[in-house]
Amino acid sequence: MRSTRWKAASRAALALAGAGALAAGMALTATAPAAAGTTLGASAAEKGRYFGTAVAGFKLSDSAYTTILNREFNMVTAENEMKMNATEPQQNQFSYGAADQIVNHARSRGMSVRGHTLAWHSQQPGWMESMSGSALRQAMLNHVTQVATHFRGQVVAWDVVNEAFADGSSGGRRDSNLQRTGNDWIEAAFRAARAADPGAKLCYNDYNTDNWTHAKTQGVYNMVRDFKARGVPIDCVGFQSHFNNESPYVSNYRTTLSSFAALGVDVQITELDIQGASANTYRSVVEDCLAVARCNGITVWGIRDSDSWRASQTPLLFNNNGSKKPAYDAVLAALNNGTTPTDPPTDPPTDPPTDPPTTPPPGSGGCTATVSVNQWTGGFVATVKVTAGSSAISGWTIGIGLPSGATVTNAWNANRSGNTGTTNWTNVAYNGRVGAGQSTEYGFQANGTAGSLSPTCSAS
Ligand code: XIL
Repeated sequence: MRSTRWKAASRAALALAGAGALAAGMALTATAPAAAGTTLGASAAEKGRYFGTAVAGFKLSDSAYTTILNREFNMVTAENEMKMNATEPQQNQFSYGAADQIVNHARSRGMSVRGHTLAWHSQQPGWMESMSGSALRQAMLNHVTQVATHFRGQVVAWDVVNEAFADGSSGGRRDSNLQRTGNDWIEAAFRAARAADPGAKLCYNDYNTDNWTHAKTQGVYNMVRDFKARGVPIDCVGFQSHFNNESPYVSNYRTTLSSFAALGVDVQITELDIQGASANTYRSVVEDCLAVARCNGITVWGIRDSDSWRASQTPLLFNNNGSKKPAYDAVLAALNNGTTPTDPPTDPPTDPPTDPPTTPPPGSGGCTATVSVNQWTGGFVATVKVTAGSSAISGWTIGIGLPSGATVTNAWNANRSGNTGTTNWTNVAYNGRVGAGQSTEYGFQANGTAGSLSPTCSAS
């Protein structure tokens, strides 16, 4: 039912593109004979998708810019104007002028709007950067509620939370003031957003989550799977897809998109740019999205290379004078050539790649555990890293003695017995198997003071 909004956006774009003869429902069935669209938005709409761009409000007075924007795109993301520092510069004083200008420009021309972003460790207003604990949690939830309420009915989707996972091999959360308010801050933000705007799609958005084998990708995947299992309101996952030499496009990108989609969420490519703008790579990205039924839109992060936050990488579809680059032609051709799968999606789920296929002999190489603690006045979050010894293990039990006054209030990625004194933790279904020398993490939040914690680990 929730997908009707995306479909409506596509239909609106189709009608605008003058393709009204195409029956509305056919936009979603794959094998509709494709009239070749002549713009990115019209071509995407013929495939039941949108094609969007980031827009900087101050450029709306540049007619070279708006000419391309109005001609080519049917979805808009505010590049900076809906971020926390822009919309709540002083606590409880909200400022929507710049964002409203972008929303009005887009909607008055039949374009839809993605909201970006309600909660993020970056681009926070100064007053929020210096907050912590329950005061910060309340301020964040108030921000989510106020901003989502202001734009209710005007944005089709929100990046509710942006970039909450760590880079590197941990697969865990990024440390931030928001994370230190407790691991449930993300789901709390999603619940507040749903309450404030029940009609908007609610997305989690991140970068370096394109490569299916990366720990960060798996970390986000596990969170989304957990949210779906527990009924946390999440509808979509955004892949920023800033591709460059350090973080290039990979051929398993399609597997990533389809694997997330198989969890029951829509997926979108939300901030696409590609260093050097290889036409082949742009084509591959579009083909990968079209191959996944629930990949319902692509947004590039700017219009001309000179508009890019990484202008020196010339990563976009138009050059500085507004001419179409070879990458533009490749994208348009891919949109026009592509066939899309029929609805509902047929992509099979793909298992995360990290688990060894066989069950090792019980207890063979043992395990060790280490704890890192984020302490604030009156509470802390502990992240426990479980590492297998010289052999793979198929399950683990951790013992942690808490000092008096410390009480566990919340935990994730482990089963718990006891919340004061001696606590015992065992693996959940998806993280019991750990390869030789490999690690997994779980965490908990507690009231009180952690002191120094000395976990024990036994393997099975
Ligand atoms: C960038 C903007 O493009 C810049 O103008 C700004 O200075 C910094 O932020 N991930 C995101 C986007 O989610 O909001 C970021 O946008 C790029 C990385």
